[in-house]
Amino acid sequence: MISQKSVQEIIEVAKVEDVIQDYVTLKRRGVNMLGLCPFHNEKTPSFTVSPGKNIYKCFGCGKGGNPVQFIMELENFTFPEALRHLAKRYGIELEETQSSIENIEERKHLDSLTIITDYAKEFYADNLFNTGIGKSVGLSYYKERGFREETIKKFGLGFAPAKKDAFTVKAVHDGYSIELLRKLGLTTKYSSDFFRDRVMFTIHNITGKVIAFAGRTLSKEKKIPKYINSPETEIYVKNKVLYGAYFAKNGIRKEDECIIVEGYTDVISLHQGGIENVVASSGTSLTTGQIRLIKRYTPNIKILYDGDAAGKKAALRGLDLVLEQDMNVKVVLLPEGEDPDSYLQNVGAAAFKEFITEKAQDFILFKTDLLLEETKNDPVKKTGLIKDIVASIAKIPDPLKRSVYTKECSRKFEMDETILVNEINKLVGIDIKKKRQKEQVNSPGTHQRLTEELMSLEPSPESGIGQISQKQQKKPSAGNEYQEKDIIRILISGGDKYFDTEETTTVAAYILKNIEDVIDDFDNKEYEAIAKECRERLVDKKPIGEKYFLNHIDPKIQTLAVDLVHSPFEFSENWKAKWEIILTTQPDPDDNYMKDSINALYRFKFKKIIKMCEKNQQRLKEIDSNTDTGKMMKLLKVQQKLIGMRDDLAKKLKTVVLK
Ligand code: CTP
Ligand code: MN
Repeated sequence: MISQKSVQEIIEVAKVEDVIQDYVTLKRRGVNMLGLCPFHNEKTPSFTVSPGKNIYKCFGCGKGGNPVQFIMELENFTFPEALRHLAKRYGIELEETQSSIENIEERKHLDSLTIITDYAKEFYADNLFNTGIGKSVGLSYYKERGFREETIKKFGLGFAPAKKDAFTVKAVHDGYSIELLRKLGLTTKYSSDFFRDRVMFTIHNITGKVIAFAGRTLSKEKKIPKYINSPETEIYVKNKVLYGAYFAKNGIRKEDECIIVEGYTDVISLHQGGIENVVASSGTSLTTGQIRLIKRYTPNIKILYDGDAAGKKAALRGLDLVLEQDMNVKVVLLPEGEDPDSYLQNVGAAAFKEFITEKAQDFILFKTDLLLEETKNDPVKKTGLIKDIVASIAKIPDPLKRSVYTKECSRKFEMDETILVNEINKLVGIDIKKKRQKEQVNSPGTHQRLTEELMSLEPSPESGIGQISQKQQKKPSAGNEYQEKDIIRILISGGDKYFDTEETTTVAAYILKNIEDVIDDFDNKEYEAIAKECRERLVDKKPIGEKYFLNHIDPKIQTLAVDLVHSPFEFSENWKAKWEIILTTQPDPDDNYMKDSINALYRFKFKKIIKMCEKNQQRLKEIDSNTDTGKMMKLLKVQQKLIGMRDDLAKKLKTVVLK
């Protein structure tokens, strides 16, 4: 691990505006700076950088954080990777803690593997460009396929000579270990080259490191496999790699869509034609790991299939996995006999782009149409088909999306929507119950979440699930979101400020003392965790405030802090409507911490007490007054006390808030 001292040093030194200006042009706007957001496509700038707070925030897409987070997000680095990047930029020497010696060894080992693959890439490229046979066979093949020289260089294409051990001999001579060459699959156990007499495709990981190769034969001989690939290694985990992802990541983010094709050559052609948000699944169906990789950049997938019967079949396979990950899937069938590469070379980039935009179909509706066509007038087959579609829809986690599809499909099938809803609810219900059984043991919060999920199922008169849902929907939700948020916002933005003019108590001390009795009752458990962390820090006399939370090691809390600190001060609209309290316009909270804290506290406690009243009331109802008189008396007393507190607070709130 990188030592806390080094982490601190980087956070102190790294300036958000410097780091961001390596990528984005920023213009001054008062105390802030403004630019076009690198995380989503926009024409008017909403990406705000605050040098004072050392954070950024995009009001378009909501992304925000400190310099470390910016690098993590943009380069898709892990936390340590981002720290190393910044350390390098600012010339900071990193201190690694003892416990990570093993990790250092591990990293050195992985580094040496990628050093060798990079060496191999250079070897194959050198052979392509600088040897007679490379030029006449390899380079001319690529050129015939329409690849320009800059494209060939960018994608690290190469040529492996036919000689039995040309690569291995040179690599060993240059000092590379034969064991590692074997491990990487570049050299066989008989010490000859694995890739021979093939044009070579380099495979990069998401950060652009060379991790593997694919070699395509130019021979027409049927017995020779068209492609051979590097084996799976520590640096090449096949089900987590997508060909072209490194070159595509910025395009995917910009377009908010990832195009998926089958072949290496398809990726290269499209790229060359200016369509850069494209990756290849390399001829197999997508794995969960690959889908997650895409999901880091966009929830939208567009898959291009060859326009023949096999292409259509392929389009139906393996996509439920994508739906399960809550991705939006579109499919495009190319004209008969074309693959993306050939079609683009035929019609040109502009026509190609137009085609894949116009012909894109939603996956579920595409599947429905295709199968409907196949099962025309055959009621038995049609039933099977409906089950099939229903299974796909049930995989979609978002209930709203599910209901849209249900409507559309019932229209296409010309059948009653409630029947479909019932079928889907059954499947989703089974799924959720399974998940619940698995997860309940591990985390108590999950149960609540899954229950909510169950409630979110479409109501339907016949289904059991639907009935729960209808009942539950009538219950008002007791969200304390605004009040809790206010408290946390004040703790984060001004915990260390003095509450009183005599400077005896800090805001954090005042608030925490006052919520001590309800600190376990936050609705939002993230907020609760922050409040508790503040309490710990208060006890340990550690600073509480913006600086600490904006650089918090837990990225979730950090993001939350950025949002809270960066958003303009706002009151909940509900307040006015619900309690008929008229709010005067509140000046920026920084102006008056005392007033701000007291108000927030009152509102927070008020909500908590109302909730306690409700709970107590419920208990009272459930009690049998004949047998449990003692208990009932107790509860009544509690109720009285709570109501007293509530009214007291209500009074205070009006006077304080209305002042
Ligand atoms: N593939 C493979 N091994 C094979 C055949 C195919 O790994 N024996 C994978 C490759 O990733 C290939 C993709 O499946 O890129 C698509 O196959 P295909 O269309 O046959 O290859 P292309 O790359 O399109 O090659 P070409 O256009 O030169 O035929
Ligand atoms: Mn092809």
